[in-house]
Amino acid sequence: MAKRIMTTDETAEDLALEPSLRPQRLGEYIGQEKAKQILKIYIEAAKQRHDTLDHVLFYGPPGLGKTTLAGIIANEMGVNIKITSGPAIEKPGEMAAVLNSLAEGDVLFVDEIHRLNRQVEEVLYPAMEDFAIDIMIGKGAAARSIRLDLPRFTLIGATTRAGLLSAPLRDRFGVIHHLEYYTDRELKTIIVRSADVLGVKIDDEGAMELARRSRGTPRLANRFLKRVRDYAQVVCGGEITAQVAAQALELLGVDRYGLDNLDREILLTMIRKFGGGPVGLDTLAAAIGEDSGTIEDVYEPFLIKNGFINRTPKGRVVTDLAYRHLGLEPAE
Ligand code: ADE
Repeated sequence: MAKRIMTTDETAEDLALEPSLRPQRLGEYIGQEKAKQILKIYIEAAKQRHDTLDHVLFYGPPGLGKTTLAGIIANEMGVNIKITSGPAIEKPGEMAAVLNSLAEGDVLFVDEIHRLNRQVEEVLYPAMEDFAIDIMIGKGAAARSIRLDLPRFTLIGATTRAGLLSAPLRDRFGVIHHLEYYTDRELKTIIVRSADVLGVKIDDEGAMELARRSRGTPRLANRFLKRVRDYAQVVCGGEITAQVAAQALELLGVDRYGLDNLDREILLTMIRKFGGGPVGLDTLAAAIGEDSGTIEDVYEPFLIKNGFINRTPKGRVVTDLAYRHLGLEPAE
């Protein structure tokens, strides 16, 4: 299996969270059928040519498997992966050092790649295009730039929204793929697999109840599975049934649609303070005391996808479904 080298604590922690629950191969990976289909072809083609895979950008809400897929790509290509993130690399020299430490064919995974600063990003342009970095030596009139060759490598970038990337960086990726929320059925299969890995007993309805409340996100499904396991173990003999899953998740504030306390606060604030909308994102974020980026990237996509919020040119509006879900009468 490919060796993983962590360069940030943040992603190291994320990967250490549930290493055994992460699929290692494309064949074990559940869901994201389109991504699997295209990656299988591109990986096979690159291997046949004894070439590296072209640079890949994954975008989509957090927890959908961007890091997992990067690890799988490295495994399938039979190369090592080095993992870092946008906020972890502050200076151009640090990016140059990371690039210079890669071996032929390696994967460099940069999480939150939209958070790289401009100077650091500029080191990536020649690295991605020509597998070289330009280093300035000397000062003033004597300053000159020398070009240092790098091994051929594959950059895999991950971001919550492709629109956050600068155009020159985005244009240098050969494969750009949007990761989708998982269906309840796919999540259920993931939960059954994870329960098996963890040695937890769960029945079909229990797995489905967990799936329905995991907002289309495997990271949440696996996290909830562990908490429901704790609850089942202490309160009711160990096996996870639909009733046990529902009780345990209610305790966590997760309702039957998978909405958590902040989701409900967003909807209630829109209704009570803004008459159901339209309200602008920044105004809403200020009213709740949350970061507007988090609302836009993490909360809103799920609320929109499930029909609780609509986006209009004038701002966000709450739907009738949201009123009914909260036990309120829709506004006229
Ligand atoms: N664990 C987390 N995500 C998974 C996936 N997509 N397939 C299988 N197991 C997973």
